[in-house]
Amino acid sequence: TTSANNTATAIAHTNIALIKYWGKVNEQITIPYTGSISLTLDQFYTKTKVTFDPQLTADQLLVNGKIQTNLTKVSRVLNRVRQLAGSEKFAIIDSKNFVPTSAGFASSASAFAALAGASATAAGLSLTHQELSKLARLGSGSASRSIFGNFVEWLPGDNDDNSYAVPMTDVTLTDIAVIAVNINSQSKTISSSQGMQLSANTSPYYSEWQNVVARDLVNLKHALMTNDFALFGQISEANAMRMHALTLSSLPPFTYFEPGTLEVIETIQALRADGIECYYTIDAGPNVKVLTQTANLSLIKDHLVDQFGPSRISVAHPGPGIEILEHER
Ligand code: PMV
Repeated sequence: TTSANNTATAIAHTNIALIKYWGKVNEQITIPYTGSISLTLDQFYTKTKVTFDPQLTADQLLVNGKIQTNLTKVSRVLNRVRQLAGSEKFAIIDSKNFVPTSAGFASSASAFAALAGASATAAGLSLTHQELSKLARLGSGSASRSIFGNFVEWLPGDNDDNSYAVPMTDVTLTDIAVIAVNINSQSKTISSSQGMQLSANTSPYYSEWQNVVARDLVNLKHALMTNDFALFGQISEANAMRMHALTLSSLPPFTYFEPGTLEVIETIQALRADGIECYYTIDAGPNVKVLTQTANLSLIKDHLVDQFGPSRISVAHPGPGIEILEHER
């Protein structure tokens, strides 16, 4: 094993959900009510170095060089690693996000995937990707999917052992570009954890959401396997709006949308009415990701740059799974 070094570095990329995860059956170990599907992106990633040190009396976390005080989710991952490795050592975690603030992506998916890979390796464990996915899931549900590249499905399962992500096979839809439109990069006032639990506990539509996701999963898989971009876009867009309908129908009602969010939606609808094929999806925040293909990418990008300014626009494509850096200690 590599345990002699007590240190390892990992890189993981963020992902955009196409069929959204929104609600936990079990909050302690992140078991979701439904499955979900995402696309890992090439432009935005987290690089994390973990060092276990017998001198430490507590875990220490640096994000972009700044000491963090809330280690609740990080500890869930590290405690599991210590349990698996039979170790009592604490760790210093040095994490850097290469997610341009202008892109408006949350970094929790890439951050907890990188933490899982680096901490397991530093502790001398050689885990499979499936085991890393379960480990990352303890920190953040969406992180379970960032262990893998390209299209990924999180199989919800019903316990710690059978809830993990898998790479999707038989996908023939490969021509995809994602244009991120940053409306506001401030961190949101309602976290995804708070928001999804409020929806699961209070939205009268929540039970129907579970049926909706079951159907959307089947239809999206069909689109991916038959290279049907129009169906892919329609299902993704509809699923995102159905998720956001759960926030509007919660008690108290809330939304992640801002005025700029609706402006982007209108723009995409207008482009589509002009025969330019593009769709949108939105996670737990105001920023919009536009789904399109190579043929229309520059036209749509130029249009969005004109309307919102170049600093708010970034382009990504399908990206890779986790990378453990053996040589860079
Ligand atoms: O993984 P979390 O707890 O940050 O929640 C992610 C929630 C969404 O991004 C809105 C949906 C998803 O499947 O990623």
